[in-house]
Amino acid sequence: MTLDLGCGRNKCFEAFGVDNNPDTDADVIADIDSASLPFLDNSFDRVLLVHTIEHVDNVINTIEEVHRLTRPGGTIVIETPHYTDFSSFCDPTHRWHLNTFSFRYFSDNHGGFGYYSRCRLREKKIQVKLLRLWRFLGLEFVINHCLIFRKFWEHYLCFVIRGKVMVLEFEVLDQ
Ligand SMILES: C[S@@+](CC[C@H](N)C(=O)[O-])C[C@H]1O[C@@H](n2cnc3c(N)ncnc32)[C@H](O)[C@@H]1O
Repeated sequence: MTLDLGCGRNKCFEAFGVDNNPDTDADVIADIDSASLPFLDNSFDRVLLVHTIEHVDNVINTIEEVHRLTRPGGTIVIETPHYTDFSSFCDPTHRWHLNTFSFRYFSDNHGGFGYYSRCRLREKKIQVKLLRLWRFLGLEFVINHCLIFRKFWEHYLCFVIRGKVMVLEFEVLDQ
């Protein structure tokens, strides 16, 4: 069973939709920022946050809640703008401006800051889309296939070779 959190009017086919706005395709109206969503632990195989995480009050609390709802071995998919994309700062309801390393604190690659949260995820896929010109020149391929180059791009190049949307996929590990 798939949960689409912040489904808006574009709910994933066959998913169970949650949104805090009643004027959407949501099956349940609930606020991600509230203490906990009205579902039991491990209720879902897959949780989608498609252009939702950048709107929440607290990224760590939201991931912990999504971790609670997803069964161990299940999948969390996050789609969100890279902070260098036009849309990241254009929408005044965006609270967070993220990059491809923003969720590393939940994985082995936490750089010494694994204590931010006890919940653990395994990175399955991190993909960033670039503008067509950069894609055509092969830069998108290299960034998505070479971790060292992705790091180099985030540090040195991304204000010129700007990112668009990121898709990040994680496996939920038992705590
Ligand atoms: C940019 S829209 C994305 C909608 C849909 N996922 C899509 O891709 O078209 C963000 C959605 O998240 C919902 N949302 C924002 N903050 C929320 C919260 N705290 N709790 C529940 N839903 C929230 C909004 O109501 C909105 O429908």
